[in-house]
Amino acid sequence: MTQDELKQAVAQAALDYIKPKLETDSVIGIGTGSTANCFIDCLATIKGQIDATVASSEESAQRLKNHGIPVYDLNTVDVVDFYIDGADESNRALQLIKGGGAALTREKIVTAVAREFICIADESKLVHTLGNFPLPVEVIPMARSYVARELVKIGADPVYREGVITDNGNIILDCYNYSITQPLASEQKINGITGVVTNGLFAIKPADLLLLGTAQGVKTLRAD
Ligand code: A5P
Repeated sequence: MTQDELKQAVAQAALDYIKPKLETDSVIGIGTGSTANCFIDCLATIKGQIDATVASSEESAQRLKNHGIPVYDLNTVDVVDFYIDGADESNRALQLIKGGGAALTREKIVTAVAREFICIADESKLVHTLGNFPLPVEVIPMARSYVARELVKIGADPVYREGVITDNGNIILDCYNYSITQPLASEQKINGITGVVTNGLFAIKPADLLLLGTAQGVKTLRAD
């Protein structure tokens, strides 16, 4: 199977997982990226049954609207029943690196509100130790140089992602050569640097379920 076919398979598996649990007032949180796009396209096949979604990026909101699926402002909903999103890396504890598409902050906000976070990914994303994928950090623009110096102090090699402005008007620093053996501590430490909006570690609130696309079919992983 190609990587695209694996992404489509996990997107369909996520739909199959939530479909029997959907109620008339269910709210579905939608992630960002190529795997989340596959899920949006799957969701469109049952759009008559979907009352509300919230999106983690302008890009995903537009794709949902193009399908005629309603998108709500997160502030108008109390609960998000399911949040479905991809990841750049996951370990066996379902702690993730996200933000390759620069949508990490809104993704983390929707995750915080969600009752169940279902991560969908192809098998290339499952790793033993997080950090081979450079960890994205969203930063207030005026703090860019200061935050970069602080990231160097903790052992990372931050690189400014040229030409990228997030949906929140901020910039991204990608941390290279930063092996993350203690994801919880790293998430907290980096978030404590003044000027950081958030970083792409999802360890404080990891995924609840990982649907992993493999050549042998979709595997279901829960946190160790
Ligand atoms: C978006 O900011 C990211 O967190 C994505 O969820 C992540 O990059 C996965 O994207 P793909 O599904 O395109 O690999």
